[in-house]
Amino acid sequence: MASFNLLLLPGDGIGPEVMAEVKKVADALGKAGLGTFETETDLVGGAAYDAHGKAVADSTMQLALSADAVLFGAVGGPKWAKVPYEHRPEAGLLRLRKDLALFANLRPAVCYPALAEASSLKREVIEGLDIMIVRELTGGVYFGEPKEVVTLENGQKRAVDTQVYTTHEIERIARVAFDLAKVRRKKVTSTEKHNVMRSGVLWKEVVTRVGAEEYPDIELEHHLADACGMQLVRWPKQYDVIVCDNLFGDMLSDVAAMLTGSLGMLPSASLGAPDPATGKRKSLYEPVHGSAPDIAGQGLANPIAMIGSFGMALRYSLGLGQAADLVDAAIADVLASGLRTRDIAAKGANAVGTTEMGDAIVAALRKRL
Ligand code: IPM
Ligand code: MG
Repeated sequence: MASFNLLLLPGDGIGPEVMAEVKKVADALGKAGLGTFETETDLVGGAAYDAHGKAVADSTMQLALSADAVLFGAVGGPKWAKVPYEHRPEAGLLRLRKDLALFANLRPAVCYPALAEASSLKREVIEGLDIMIVRELTGGVYFGEPKEVVTLENGQKRAVDTQVYTTHEIERIARVAFDLAKVRRKKVTSTEKHNVMRSGVLWKEVVTRVGAEEYPDIELEHHLADACGMQLVRWPKQYDVIVCDNLFGDMLSDVAAMLTGSLGMLPSASLGAPDPATGKRKSLYEPVHGSAPDIAGQGLANPIAMIGSFGMALRYSLGLGQAADLVDAAIADVLASGLRTRDIAAKGANAVGTTEMGDAIVAALRKRL
């Protein structure tokens, strides 16, 4: 039986609560003989800062570099509002993304039939929705230099963030989007702001060339990023794969998440380039939601995005696509049975907590194994 080494980084807030449910899912798959899942757990974010004065320790980075996949919960919270900027909890996540070179972030937004009512949009707008946001994750304004606040001679301050992209960075993320579209509905929408940004002009030019030269069978369209946000809430089913830079992808994926009913539903995969020798990619899987400090520690969080992220790890890193299908099906079964956490429950309806939802998914999974 294949053996996999997973690094679990639960992080802060609801992170540890939702991660605990993933462990149960991995145990169930292990018991059914689908693989041996060796897990190691370590600190990240505010929890790591409290322990080591750094949002991610070097020893944790070593573990992450050698893991078959990293599963990441969430980071941040008001407790760390005053820590120095370079040590804020989010810096741990950004270092993991950058140092593991996880340039491709896949954020699928799928509306489960049972949840069409939970969205703030009308049923016909989101029923059957299945789109994939491909977000560039190691470049753009998140990492561009200079990135600083300087004090001017007149005492005023000046803050700078730099939006920067190279041909190579755009080409490789475009290829990820086109390759995904090949096995989906064969359409890519590229988003940028070429009407105000130089980097947008280059983005559009490079994506157009890659599409024409390498993927002539894939339909390519271009939407300005603001218009794409508007179209996502107007008629999201027009999209298949949306490719965007780091910052626009951050915003558009939150919008897409809400189409599915709740931020608590959306998983994500962050992938590096395949290793030329082994074909393996470095990878990190995390829910799109944050640490939700307002409900942390109360057992209320929805674990579905975290469990779905583990499903993506099975599919994209561990070669267990069938097991991933079973996990997705188990989630759908539980939702169809009517079980809801608070974030996806109808007003006034009964809601279960994190462990009940996790246990129900494990039970549904066992039935399918
Ligand atoms: C996300 C988050 C992160 C980001 C934060 C926590 C740094 O919002 O993964 O979407 O901005 O990328
Ligand atoms: Mg975000």
